[in-house]
Amino acid sequence: MGHGIAQVLAAAGRTVDLYEPDLARAIAGRERIVANLERAVAKGRLDATTRVEILDRIAATDRLAAAGEADLVIEAIFEDEDAKRTLWAAIDAVAPGRAVFATNTSSISIDRLAAALAPGRRSAFCGMHFFSPVPVMPLVELIRGSATADMTIEAARTLAADLGKQLIVSADRPGFIVNRILMPFLAEAMHALEEGIGTAEDIDAGARVGLNHPMGPLALADFIGLDVVLGIMRVLHADLGDERFRPPRMLEDLVAAGKLGQKSGAGFFTYPRE
Ligand code: CAA
Repeated sequence: MGHGIAQVLAAAGRTVDLYEPDLARAIAGRERIVANLERAVAKGRLDATTRVEILDRIAATDRLAAAGEADLVIEAIFEDEDAKRTLWAAIDAVAPGRAVFATNTSSISIDRLAAALAPGRRSAFCGMHFFSPVPVMPLVELIRGSATADMTIEAARTLAADLGKQLIVSADRPGFIVNRILMPFLAEAMHALEEGIGTAEDIDAGARVGLNHPMGPLALADFIGLDVVLGIMRVLHADLGDERFRPPRMLEDLVAAGKLGQKSGAGFFTYPRE
């Protein structure tokens, strides 16, 4: 998500520091942007000069101190509440007072994350949930915490408009709007497979051909990452206490076996390496 967010920000004319504690990973993220833009040039969707201009605006860094000059800090690390809170406390220590803070979380409470900041900074904090692949998906979910100021919401609205994204606003409830809808859908497709109602191919074809979804639910889970889907379902199940969000056994087993979907080469389907 991080490299996708950096790409759309730079394409909208913003200067971006793409931070990872490990410089090699920051550089790898930037390389993915290079590849995305090369593909866009090859398809005639982007001219070569603009590609260079976009890339010139993105610097890979392992220095969190780079946030000391930021007007906006977007955090998009993995879905782990403690890890996010630790990072936000460190960002709070270096970011200037004017900075707006946004977390890209798919399920974790904005108020619980905001608690990692000094009380005076919590008004500048909100959730901005992007969708993968970020350059393609036109939605951003904006989540308002109980301390989020109107000015912060306005800044997020302006940013989304600059990025050409449509904004929807969600209350700070587990899964917000989209994952509240999506996770039971994915879980039900997995239960249908577990119960032998249909093959993985037919379940997915049902959604693709019968509902006009671009991907079937099992392929979509593989695309998101089965570990990520499992993590989101666990948060929703724990926070809402509703059986609709209990992770299916098959999902638990695939993740335990290291089958994480597209990124590992196998999940509900297999993905031969190119
Ligand atoms: N980065 C940038 N661009 C990408 C891309 C990527 N990773 N993957 C595909 N694209 C672009 C392609 O370049 C292509 O662009 P053009 O049409 O301008 O040439 C376009 O997307 C379509 O790509 P393809 O022709 O290769 O493939 P496709 O038509 O099968 O589309 C898809 C691929 C866009 C991923 C499509 O299958 C799709 O929309 N799938 C559903 C994605 C989805 O639901 N995402 C949300 C997941 S949930 C989430 O992210 C949040 C959460 O909390 C879990």
